[in-house]
Amino acid sequence: MSDQNRIPQHVAIIMDGNGRWAELRGKERYEGHAAGIEPVRASLRAAVRNGVKYLTLYAFSTENWGRPQKEVDSLMELFCQSVISETPELVRQGVRVRMIGERSRFSEKVRSYLARAEEQTADGKVLTLILALNYSSRSEITRAVRKIAARAAAGGICLRSARIDPAAIDERTVSEALDTAEYPDPDLIVRTSGECRLSNFLLWQASYAELYFPEVLWPDFTEAEFDRALAEYARRDRRFGLVK
Ligand code: FPP
Repeated sequence: MSDQNRIPQHVAIIMDGNGRWAELRGKERYEGHAAGIEPVRASLRAAVRNGVKYLTLYAFSTENWGRPQKEVDSLMELFCQSVISETPELVRQGVRVRMIGERSRFSEKVRSYLARAEEQTADGKVLTLILALNYSSRSEITRAVRKIAARAAAGGICLRSARIDPAAIDERTVSEALDTAEYPDPDLIVRTSGECRLSNFLLWQASYAELYFPEVLWPDFTEAEFDRALAEYARRDRRFGLVK
């Protein structure tokens, strides 16, 4: 049912268009990524103000390692610098930082900066900011399948349930083996820059998400743009495969 005041519990964003934004200004691509920090702050402010409880940002995909080394290095440096510089404000706003994706491929430095941000914001109760880093859905689902298979191969002894019988594997078993096990599915997925695809992002979790593709490039995304996404969401009629 459409309800003008309905607020999504979980918003996920594919922050796209940094490279095009930089090119349009005759700048280097990394400058586009650096200009993408202010929209992260703006989205957080708008999410907190509107009562959104979870905000997931697709910051680095497993495919992004294939970009030029200079761009990858500048992104790693940007992650480190911004988690350090933003942490006090995140704590002040009651934001808890978490991560999905495989950390093992990151350098020791990146891992320690991310771990520090998670520790220092662990008590945040207002909003959970989930950074998707070295993340892709297919990799996440593959790792989940491996976890479930390992539990079955181990003879049914596992931490979460006493016995794992293949016939008892259901959607909940899969959801609980994903990186997002602790979080609700996204209600709204936004991708900036006018591209209309999910690019390996939250494919399982997106089953009933509303999708919104504004034309704006990520560095130009503002609090007002976030509010517009929420207004568009409130107009949608979500039926989850049922009838009214
Ligand atoms: C996609 O635009 C954007 C990225 C691959 C990086 C996004 C990262 C940030 C905005 C930094 C966020 C930092 C934190 C700590 C959350 P693109 O380069 O693919 O743009 P294009 O399609 O125009 O080339």
